[in-house]
Amino acid sequence: MNKRYIRRTGATLGLCVIAITCGTANAAPTKGTVSVLNWWTSGSEAKSMNILQQMLADQGYKMINDAVSGGGGGNARTVLKSRIQSHNIPGAAQIKGPEIQQWCSTGLTMNIDSVAAKNNWDKVLPKAVSKYMKCDGHYVAVPFNIHRTNWLWINKSVLDKAGAAMPTDWDSLVAALKKIKQAGITPIAGGGNTWQVATELDAIALAAGGPDFYRKAFVDLDPGALSGADMVTSLKHLRTIQQYSDPNAQGLSWNHDTGEVVQGRAGMQIMGDWAKGEITNANATPGKEIACIAFPGAHTGYSYQSDSFEMFAQSNSDQNAQYAFARTALSPKFQRKFNKAKGSIPVRQDVSLKGFDACAHKAKKEFTAAEKNNALVPTFSQDMAEKGAVKGAIFDVIAKFYNDQNMSAEDAAQEMAHQVQQAEAMS
Ligand code: GAL
Repeated sequence: MNKRYIRRTGATLGLCVIAITCGTANAAPTKGTVSVLNWWTSGSEAKSMNILQQMLADQGYKMINDAVSGGGGGNARTVLKSRIQSHNIPGAAQIKGPEIQQWCSTGLTMNIDSVAAKNNWDKVLPKAVSKYMKCDGHYVAVPFNIHRTNWLWINKSVLDKAGAAMPTDWDSLVAALKKIKQAGITPIAGGGNTWQVATELDAIALAAGGPDFYRKAFVDLDPGALSGADMVTSLKHLRTIQQYSDPNAQGLSWNHDTGEVVQGRAGMQIMGDWAKGEITNANATPGKEIACIAFPGAHTGYSYQSDSFEMFAQSNSDQNAQYAFARTALSPKFQRKFNKAKGSIPVRQDVSLKGFDACAHKAKKEFTAAEKNNALVPTFSQDMAEKGAVKGAIFDVIAKFYNDQNMSAEDAAQEMAHQVQQAEAMS
């Protein structure tokens, strides 16, 4: 054997020893892997997901963060379908609202009752959330948070610069937008894609028509409500918001828009409190420099959604990682850390908000009040109110209306009722 070879082998062996020693210290063999399909790719969203990945790693589990970009999850949903078709099924996938039941009917989902029972989920979760997590009475999904959709984020120094007052209703909002425009600042950051515009209409409709109208239109899909006076008003308000929005917004993301408001290049954004995650991530304080108010109008209400992950059955070893995923996501420690970073409030009702910002406290207070006053509505733009095909029909009409200045609010409302009926008939 040649000397050089021996020397090299020896050197390699030496390295191996070091590697094995280091390996035991840094990366213990994994107890199982869970791949998690999601659409959390903005700065604050990725940070929030890293918290879970780290907490699972600390317990010896590997979490593969399969993040697909695209706010609102349109792209992630397409990827989920193709992964299911090609039998590359994720251990957990971000799915919300009634779609959880739809996926259940594939027979591919996983029962996580044992984790739920051991950790008292029925007790610590609000009914408004837990009812979505079950299929035929069994838990198949794990909720992470409660987000509110109908927020308006306002840069206070922009308001001051423009000499505008904090809006309290629709008219004072329009007056403020007008002043901000006169001051040469973009009044509203938004309008980049249909999901963002639908999110705006979501908040506008709840404020204009109130929770009863909202439920009739978006949950019961009542044709009279979908085409009626409150919907027409809502669409007219959307048109006004459009006129105060950046005309070059096409293609810009929701988190880009939040950045514009934080930097003072735009005055306001109509967006759920995932925007708060971005505000905090940019080192601004929600409730201080950036005010948070429920989107103002004739009515008050709370449109909510819960980000949740449906579990899909995997091989035995990875099942342990899935159970750990579900257990950890609802642990009080994760609930506090994650929701602080994400902008949402804990879905566990027994977790303290100590150390959370003023907007989170407001969210929690108003959620509890809305629950009592029947003013809580599942948000349609974030998949909580109806299944895919119907939501698609509503989104199509919103896009058509937004892109065609000649389409009247009356025509759009009629069209919405018609398209929803068609979609319902086909699904
Ligand atoms: C929503 C999701 C939020 C947020 C947002 C933007 O659908 O529930 O958590 O991530 O999309 O991506």
